[in-house]
Amino acid sequence: MSEIIIAIDGYSACGKSTLAKQVAEHFGYLFIDSGAMYRAVTLFALQNGCVIDGKVNEKALVECLSDVHLEFKKEAGIPRIHLNGLDVEDEIRKGQVPNFVSQVSAIKEVREKLVNEQRAMATLGGVVMDGRDIGTVVFPNAALKIFVTASLEIRIERRFQELKAKGIVVEKSEIAKNLNERDYIDTTRIESPLRQAPDAIILDNTQLTKEEQLNWVVTHVKSLLNKNLS
Ligand code: DC
Repeated sequence: MSEIIIAIDGYSACGKSTLAKQVAEHFGYLFIDSGAMYRAVTLFALQNGCVIDGKVNEKALVECLSDVHLEFKKEAGIPRIHLNGLDVEDEIRKGQVPNFVSQVSAIKEVREKLVNEQRAMATLGGVVMDGRDIGTVVFPNAALKIFVTASLEIRIERRFQELKAKGIVVEKSEIAKNLNERDYIDTTRIESPLRQAPDAIILDNTQLTKEEQLNWVVTHVKSLLNKNLS
């Protein structure tokens, strides 16, 4: 076993994507941000009249799901999501997308489509994928499963800084409200709720620097690979 699948799950704004990117770069693996895929479908829903009076029209969205084509294309080594040929990596982080993404990702047909695509992307070898159901549903046999947690305060601060760096200014109270709502929907939905896989290891990165959290994962990956060699 030389190239493995690493599943990284956890709550919103815990730094999963940052960690997944770091780990993928370190090992030369493919990084897949599954949340970006749910966000891109949400953007599609907003652009195509599938959100009415603050509610996602499930039936309308399901009917046009076959018109949603997602692809990751690398720019400066970092994969960016494209929706029907257009780079939407920045657009999916702002506007109304964060407010509706949990509703969209609770739809069974949306999940089926994206889970199939996620599995298809991982057929070529080493992959680091982050999301909510990667270790439980997408890759239940992943060699390494990590469940990331962090305090709510640090999650708010990280999301605030991430948005600020992109020139997007949002009140921290607004971020807290959005994270609480998404945590609630993500953990209580019927379809593939956010759960820690029984064989996942927990990484609480509240007090860790980016370098420390990378070292933590690298140590686990190396010991796993060594165990399989011996
Ligand atoms: O990781 P993120 O914050 O970009 O994810 C956006 C939303 O997508 C999140 O609120 C829940 C949903 N999601 C999901 O349901 N399953 C995944 N594998 C990834 C994300």
